[in-house]
Amino acid sequence: MKIDTLPRFNLAQFPTPIQYLDALTQKYKGPAIYMKRDDLTSLGMGGNKTRKLEYLIGEALTQKKDTLITAGGIQSNHCRLTASAARKAGLDCHLVLNGEPRECPNGNLLLDKIFGAKIHYCDRPDRDKKLFQVAEDLTSSGKHPFVIPVGGSNSIGSVGYVTAMREITEQLDELKIKPNVIVFATSSGGTQAGLTLGAKISGFRGDVMGISIDQLKTGSDPFPPVLTEIANSTAERIGSGIRMTDADFSLNCDYLGAGYAKPGDLEFNAIRDLAQYEGILLGPVYTARAMGGFLDLIQKGHFTKDHTVLFWHTGGTPELFAWADQCRDFFG
Ligand SMILES: Cc1ncc(COP(=O)(O)O)c(C=O)c1O
Repeated sequence: MKIDTLPRFNLAQFPTPIQYLDALTQKYKGPAIYMKRDDLTSLGMGGNKTRKLEYLIGEALTQKKDTLITAGGIQSNHCRLTASAARKAGLDCHLVLNGEPRECPNGNLLLDKIFGAKIHYCDRPDRDKKLFQVAEDLTSSGKHPFVIPVGGSNSIGSVGYVTAMREITEQLDELKIKPNVIVFATSSGGTQAGLTLGAKISGFRGDVMGISIDQLKTGSDPFPPVLTEIANSTAERIGSGIRMTDADFSLNCDYLGAGYAKPGDLEFNAIRDLAQYEGILLGPVYTARAMGGFLDLIQKGHFTKDHTVLFWHTGGTPELFAWADQCRDFFG
């Protein structure tokens, strides 16, 4: 396999830690709960996009590009980390964000500005068109832009989570832990595609379960076709003969709540439990929804004392400051 020869630009320190959450395990009286701390990837306040960006920037530098462009919601963690990573790699960064400019930007938007990203605001339906228009304008002005898809989810970015799976398999062997399931937040699919492919390659025998954060559905069949496509193109890129089908993916779509970026009691209860039992912060959009879903599954008896579960913390804690009003309502 050519996975170790693909261009990669080092952005953070790996491996990230695995921690046993003793107090949370005691509180829920269910499975032993471990956490993989990808919120602690040491770049721009951390998160899962760091691993994808190592390969995306590796490719951009190989192609002699000088500017990264990507898109997302106004509080996108992916965009904030792209802005941060671009600086580390000596590249410019343009972000296409759906939403309005803010008089007083906060959360990820504030960080985008601190990292010096150039921001282009648009409406959600115009986002893809705007992304390519910005790329064209940059090219016409003599720049060499590299377009990163929403979430960094393509065959290049996903390699970061194939190598992450190799990383965790080695850690689990050392710690002598055999999780029955790895749980995490899934949205644009690159993380789940990489982890599930990586699990097959590394021989991880447990379930790799994404908790869906938004309604990425195609007809009656949710998300799997996207996951399968990313995973198979990633397999080809790394020179693996593995071919995945939709049935290879484990996806829970029961916690979509009021919609994307609309946290409610499920999310704020999870934020409170993790903060007040473990001193760990979650982001209201992604990780609190996934953790809230996971804790609900414990309460429904889906996981029992006989199980060991590893929750993969994918970051997003700067979102907390953009939901300060709701946090205040919940926490007083
Ligand atoms: C904090 C956080 N967790 C999880 C995800 C989901 O990752 P993916 O888009 O690879 O499915 C995202 C995506 O933006 C994220 O910001």
